[in-house]
Amino acid sequence: MWGGRFSQGLDALMAELNNSFPFDRAMWAQDIRGSMAWARQICVAGVITSTERDDLLRGLQVVYDEFASGAFPAKTADEDIHSAVERRLGEVVGAVAGKLHTGRSRNDQVATDIRLWVMAAIARTDECLQEVQRAILVQADAAGDLIIPGYTHVQRAQPILLRHWLLSHFWPLQRDRERLADCLTRVAVLPLGSGAIAGTPLKVDRRALAAELGMHDISRNSVDAISDRDFIAEYLFVAAMVGIHISRLSEDMVFFSSAEYGFVSLADAYSTGSSLMPQKKNPDSFELARGKSGRLVGSLMTILTVLKGLPSAYNKDLQEDKEPLFDAVRTIELTLPVAAGALATATFNRAALLRGLDDAMLATDVADYLVDRGVPFRTAHKVVGQLVRIAEERGVKMVALPLDVFQSVDATFKADVMECFSMAASVAARTVPGATGHQAVAEQLAAAHACLA
Ligand code: ARG
Repeated sequence: MWGGRFSQGLDALMAELNNSFPFDRAMWAQDIRGSMAWARQICVAGVITSTERDDLLRGLQVVYDEFASGAFPAKTADEDIHSAVERRLGEVVGAVAGKLHTGRSRNDQVATDIRLWVMAAIARTDECLQEVQRAILVQADAAGDLIIPGYTHVQRAQPILLRHWLLSHFWPLQRDRERLADCLTRVAVLPLGSGAIAGTPLKVDRRALAAELGMHDISRNSVDAISDRDFIAEYLFVAAMVGIHISRLSEDMVFFSSAEYGFVSLADAYSTGSSLMPQKKNPDSFELARGKSGRLVGSLMTILTVLKGLPSAYNKDLQEDKEPLFDAVRTIELTLPVAAGALATATFNRAALLRGLDDAMLATDVADYLVDRGVPFRTAHKVVGQLVRIAEERGVKMVALPLDVFQSVDATFKADVMECFSMAASVAARTVPGATGHQAVAEQLAAAHACLA
């Protein structure tokens, strides 16, 4: 392909280092689609006849079908997907294959291929995210009025609806979907026509090329276009963020499924056993989802490090953009459906949730009772703190303290203070949009469903 000025072949290890075909063959469909569009355009530009164009298109279709059926006859000498397709095209259609690369470089070709690949990957990643969101909604729809202890610092804080906790994991994924959609606007921009660096001398219609390839815009600067991999960094940031969100959901599920909490049981299909301890049922699905987030963050670090300080235009370092990208997409496509399945098939345990609700979590509601009767919040906070300490010293729950103890700390207390000790009332009091009150959460749930409509 480029051997004209060389008299010696490549060192074997150098060839292994240089050859990207083992991984970039993943872009075969995009490479061939791009070449078909290019063949049509260079015909319009008068570089090849319509007969030559038809020969090229027919040959490219043969190569496409070979890849699609797994019958592509690869050769160890194939350097990358672009040269492999061109080599095979030559075997299928003969010398006319040598005209396809006119006015084009592998630099604008690979930039086009990888953008087409990311465009398709974004659609699939969005589908994976929706799958997890749907699983969250399956559980949220089923959760009814169940209340779960809300934790801050992994300490019991305030009671919230189970639905509210479930939905707290829905919105981060919705933001990831928004980030993906935004990223797509910068991915679907055509670099083809940029040549190696200076732009093609052929009179091709780049806008027509973009439209044919489903891209909404064309790049403005050929030097930038061939080395811009920002869109990969952006995708990988979203992927890393997705990993982090799934890891946090997973962490909650891991500890909620432990015997100490017992809030949720995972289906056998998403758990594994221990080779040593017969009693063990481990939440490996969520542990792996939590662990996989590490490699997603790693992929982002890889691309950023490859790009940092790179001279302008194309440098072979850029070949290192693909493996982290492919690995991240594969990781998402494996991890998210499993997390979705594990979540959708989990069973929440009503009795354990009730056991987890300690009335100390209503201390804020008792303070609010005093505030309603004119006590400044700071005083109320201190008063209730004293009650919590007295209850702790006596080894009883706050609700079990006699009214005169309440009144000895603050005379504002009346018998109706005992109405504060209701998880349902605590939840119901929080009616503002975004809070855990029943109506607010019903509205939140409807909004979540609408995101998937
Ligand atoms: N395999 C190369 C890559 O992935 C294709 C571009 C090669 N360009 C070049 N000038 N050698 O980046």
